[in-house]
Amino acid sequence: MSVWAVLAAAGSGERLGADRPKAFVRLGEQPLLAESLARLDESEWIDAIVVVAPAGWEEPSILLAEELGCSKVSACVTGGATRADSVRLGVAEVPPDAAVVLVHDAARPVLDDAVIGRVVTALGEGWDGAVPALPIPDTVKRIDGERVVETLRRDELRVVQTPQAFVADVLRNALAGSEWTDCSAAVEAAGGRVRSVDGDPRLLKVTDADDLDRVAALL
Ligand code: CTP
Ligand code: MG
Repeated sequence: MSVWAVLAAAGSGERLGADRPKAFVRLGEQPLLAESLARLDESEWIDAIVVVAPAGWEEPSILLAEELGCSKVSACVTGGATRADSVRLGVAEVPPDAAVVLVHDAARPVLDDAVIGRVVTALGEGWDGAVPALPIPDTVKRIDGERVVETLRRDELRVVQTPQAFVADVLRNALAGSEWTDCSAAVEAAGGRVRSVDGDPRLLKVTDADDLDRVAALL
């Protein structure tokens, strides 16, 4: 059973507001992309990696993979205008005989191997997909304008992270559908059965400059 990782790194990082795409902003000594790339490459769960790079940053992405000694990088493709487009372009590089595709955001650098293991293992138990999920500590309400209209049951809610793992054929078919922000949403909409597994609080997503400091403290 071969497991291919698609590493989505093609975003511009508008909210971070740096002079370069988010994947190439410094985190410690290396570009942000280096951390998740090296961790995927080291993982025994992963057989091959497709990097989805920002337009114009394909060459630096390949050089970075070489510098890090990443031996599993099989392709580096240019991303699209949205995350969904970028994931589609990355998944298109995965060969037809791959069994599992794991999609991860470069914006979440602190990728622990145990999380990869949890999402991949769930597929062996018959699920179409698996996502890391965390409980929500705060009460969540639905609003209409300024008015609170509903208080949601917190025990039924989770925040989800990447890496997300899917049976390769299920993901391919689901991605042909409409726009979504999260691959799991596409698979759910196509009728796939997705399991939530324990997430990891260290899998923070870097969105703004403060997040970079928070993540750096976890390395
Ligand atoms: N991503 C991508 N292609 C896009 C947009 C996003 O590959 N067209 C990737 C990003 O590189 C990131 C992940 O999807 O790893 C999550 O996206 P996000 O955190 O929103 O990153 P950006 O889109 O780069 O940031 P912003 O929305 O602030 O511009
Ligand atoms: Mg974005």
